Amino acid sequence: LPRNRVFSGAQPTGSMHLGNYLGAFRNWVRLQEDYECIYCVVDLHAITVWQEPAVLIQQTREAAAAYIACGVDPQKSILFNQSRVAAHAELAWIFNCVARIGWLNRMTQFKDKAGKNREKASVGLYVYPDLMAADILAYKATHVPVGEDQKQHLELTRDIALKFNNDFGREVFPIVEPIIQKEGARVMSLRDGAKKMSKSDPSDASRLNLTDDADRIALKIRKAKTDPLPLPEDAAGLADRPEASNLVGIYAALADLSQADVLARHGGKEFAPFKKDLADLAVARLAPISNEMSRLMRDPAEIDAVLDKGAEKAAALARPVMEEVRAVVGL
Ligand code: ADP
Ligand code: NA
Repeated sequence: LPRNRVFSGAQPTGSMHLGNYLGAFRNWVRLQEDYECIYCVVDLHAITVWQEPAVLIQQTREAAAAYIACGVDPQKSILFNQSRVAAHAELAWIFNCVARIGWLNRMTQFKDKAGKNREKASVGLYVYPDLMAADILAYKATHVPVGEDQKQHLELTRDIALKFNNDFGREVFPIVEPIIQKEGARVMSLRDGAKKMSKSDPSDASRLNLTDDADRIALKIRKAKTDPLPLPEDAAGLADRPEASNLVGIYAALADLSQADVLARHGGKEFAPFKKDLADLAVARLAPISNEMSRLMRDPAEIDAVLDKGAEKAAALARPVMEEVRAVVGL
């Protein structure tokens, strides 16, 4: 079994944003130093809800461009899109036959995403966690960086691996370990401190897109929702102040400081001058990413070539795993 293999991915369902960067991509880049990393644009996950085909193709490329612009290096890591490696769908089917309906019924994200109209949700949305288990286990990945929102799904991946190994009496799959990141783990909407920053939020002002230019970044930060009080002097003063807490958290993550350090410098200030500093910091960090993304997007053929190459490497890793799985299952 590989000992240090990371798998992670994001859905190409909209513009990548600061939450994806601080909660995922930035960490992926760091992991490249110590792990063999496999980073995937999970287009099969995206189609669990309706995607316009031409838009999906474009967003898949844009997601890959975002990974690269944030520092994922296709020379060091494997970067590809999920639908190009058939092992994901094949292993997901086998896991559909391993996972129990009761397990999937407990997944809170399905309940959230399907909403009240559960009968109208796709079957794919329901078995999404089985596909996620397949994404990881097709490579026998050992570590998965996860946000809060994916912790329950990763538990399910562990349960599936355990049951598979147990049912067939062979240690085929590793029991994956989460890599839980604290800083930037949950970036909230700029318009509503109770909602996480998300690509599916209809309000563009709620997030800093990785494609936003300097003026848009500054404008969105200036308009970010706050409360009427000045910034607190210490981190304890952030309790029950979700908007202040979010902006200080973003500052801290972008500056690689603790919230306490940020407040040691800015505590007691009004929001207007703090937002100006935050905007300068955000522009300094994000403008190079958005510039690199637009450079990459000008040459889609090059992105496609990177993804094709990645898919070949990924398929080569998954092939022996799938051969072993078929033999063990009797297929
Ligand atoms: P979205 O929720 O915007 O659709 P994805 O589900 O594709 O994003 O998430 C891709 C990665 O980005 C995941 O690791 C997820 O935990 C992380 N992520 C998404 N939104 C945020 C956020 N607001 N704060 C921190 N991390 C986030
Ligand atoms: Na998500």
